Amino acid sequence: MISAATAHLLWAETYDRDPNALLALEERIIGPLLPPFEANGMLALDVACGTGRWLLNLLHRGARFGAGLDFSSKMLAQAQGKAGIEDKLILADCAAMPVASHCSDLAVCSFAVGYIPDLSRFAAELSRIVRCGGHLFVSDFHPLGHLHGWKRTFRHRETVLEISSFRYSIPEICCAFEAEDFELLNQVEACFGEEERHIFKEAGKGQEFEAMMRLPAIFVCHFRRGETTRTT
Ligand SMILES: C[S@@+](CC[C@H](N)C(=O)[O-])C[C@H]1O[C@@H](n2cnc3c(N)ncnc32)[C@H](O)[C@@H]1O
Repeated sequence: MISAATAHLLWAETYDRDPNALLALEERIIGPLLPPFEANGMLALDVACGTGRWLLNLLHRGARFGAGLDFSSKMLAQAQGKAGIEDKLILADCAAMPVASHCSDLAVCSFAVGYIPDLSRFAAELSRIVRCGGHLFVSDFHPLGHLHGWKRTFRHRETVLEISSFRYSIPEICCAFEAEDFELLNQVEACFGEEERHIFKEAGKGQEFEAMMRLPAIFVCHFRRGETTRTT
């Protein structure tokens, strides 16, 4: 078992290359839930952006400004090779982000909340940054997966490595954000569908698909920031 920091240094090189059905499922779920992109603005933040997947996606969908933050220099180095986001990346721990208060209309934190040691501090930091009325999406592996023996792993050279994480329940995550003036608008617990079958096949895991599609694989929480102004 290795720490999130070490894991993402090692994983960065292959993160975009290896077929990943979780990421595909999550994009399929979040896409239709995103608020309309206003022509005159919209600053989108990709929190723990990794190789910049959501930052690119949100800019393509019409966000006028955007930034991605991550504490892994290697993940950001991969993001830097992508046209359109190379100058929008910030090396930072998401417990304390060097970003102005109330600046973001939309923030996405995708497959990272399980690596954050202090949920309350993280929620408070996002509450400072997301403007009143702004939107926040938090997604991650479904906690039921752990109960059924699913692990957070990746392949590094010939070895499969497991990443150490915190096993937060969905109510724990929701409570942390609700305590910081985020209102839960929607919670989706999603299973793999036919749309992801080909990705399992490409990864040589076609036989696992039928069993995997019976359990929720991910959750997505969509919050809206309330009206309380915070300065710290
Ligand atoms: C599984 S990757 C997800 C990357 C991206 N959000 C995506 O969905 O493709 C998790 C990311 O969270 C980042 N991360 C974990 N803990 C962090 C922290 N405390 N501050 C900033 N980034 C963090 C890791 O470096 C890694 O890039």
